[in-house]
Amino acid sequence: MASGSPSVGGAVTGEGGAETGGTANEGSAGAGGSGTIVPCEWKSPGQGLLAGKYAAHFPIGTAVRAWHLKNQTQILTGDFNHLTAENAMKAEDIHPAEDTFHWGEADAIANFARQNCMKMTGHALLWHRQAPAWMFQGIVAEDPASLKILKARLKAHIEAVVARYADVVDNWDVVNEAISDTDAKTYRDAAEGSKWFELFGSHDYIYWAFLYARDALEANAPGSSKGKLYYNEYVLTKKADKVLKMLAWLKGKGIQVDGVGFQSHEQLEWPAVAGLQLAFDKVSAAGYKIKISELDVTVYADYVTGTFDPQPEVPFTAALETTQAKRFASLFALYRKNKSIITSVTVWGISDDRTWLDNEPVVGRDDYPLLFDDAHQPKAARASIVNF
Ligand code: GLA
Repeated sequence: MASGSPSVGGAVTGEGGAETGGTANEGSAGAGGSGTIVPCEWKSPGQGLLAGKYAAHFPIGTAVRAWHLKNQTQILTGDFNHLTAENAMKAEDIHPAEDTFHWGEADAIANFARQNCMKMTGHALLWHRQAPAWMFQGIVAEDPASLKILKARLKAHIEAVVARYADVVDNWDVVNEAISDTDAKTYRDAAEGSKWFELFGSHDYIYWAFLYARDALEANAPGSSKGKLYYNEYVLTKKADKVLKMLAWLKGKGIQVDGVGFQSHEQLEWPAVAGLQLAFDKVSAAGYKIKISELDVTVYADYVTGTFDPQPEVPFTAALETTQAKRFASLFALYRKNKSIITSVTVWGISDDRTWLDNEPVVGRDDYPLLFDDAHQPKAARASIVNF
């Protein structure tokens, strides 16, 4: 996924892709499924379409579920050339029991990507949330024999997922959100919800996850891990120094991470573009690539005072639409300016009727953070980033 060049890959013909859910170990065997691999080059759509407009900058991705493949096919294949499974590749979804894989939805998304000459983000191999209970079952914290079992489980999980999607994934979120939210601590610990930290008694698990991911890719094709190992995190304007400390620690242990995913769940006025540029500069100066991995722009500012202060629901007025479009425009201007270090930009969903922000941080409060509205029509935000 070199910056500036659209993804080139192999398309699989003759596969419809399985549906969500299904039974244990369902789906066709092997990373490519049973279809015939044919050479495939992503065809730049018209200049009026988003991914085509950005062909000389970076791939434009979106997060999808199986639903999107069937119901928003045209938008997907027109505006986007990169995909992330919103949930389907997370451990809890894809590996719900030690001997059970639910490949169905992830396979459907991967096959859609293969058929449409898109590449994917592998999201996410290790995360403290949406991790299956079996992974930690019976493990005694800081007990060496027990940790051996936990490491074997993690390794098996990473190997299985990496092998299946190595052909279509051009970057892996190996570890997601391992840095603490509090200033006093570097790493997310048990008090902040990390079972991984609790059981290992340290942040060592991060090293093992990267090692297993790198080795799984190398076992699949020697040299193929290069450029693909990412660490994914939120609020990098605050956490960049801690992330770089972690990446330096990994480097000291022989693990070269390639890049940092800036989740980019942004607000209308925060963080400031200047603060983002500063964080980009720090990460880039330390030798890492950057990807914008989960962009959306909420219309609420619940944390503006520093503590959580939920705002009441508002309608999506024309004024709000204009303000949001300006914010998207300035974010994409920033990304374009940094295209030599940005490897992809992914929006966290397609249309406002399906966004996690309708239920977080306030359940049932309508939010409008994406490029298409509830009726799947393009918003001013989309126009503002296409017309530059
Ligand atoms: C984090 C995760 C994503 C997603 C969002 C909320 O950012 O990385 O996978 O779960 O939270 O939807």
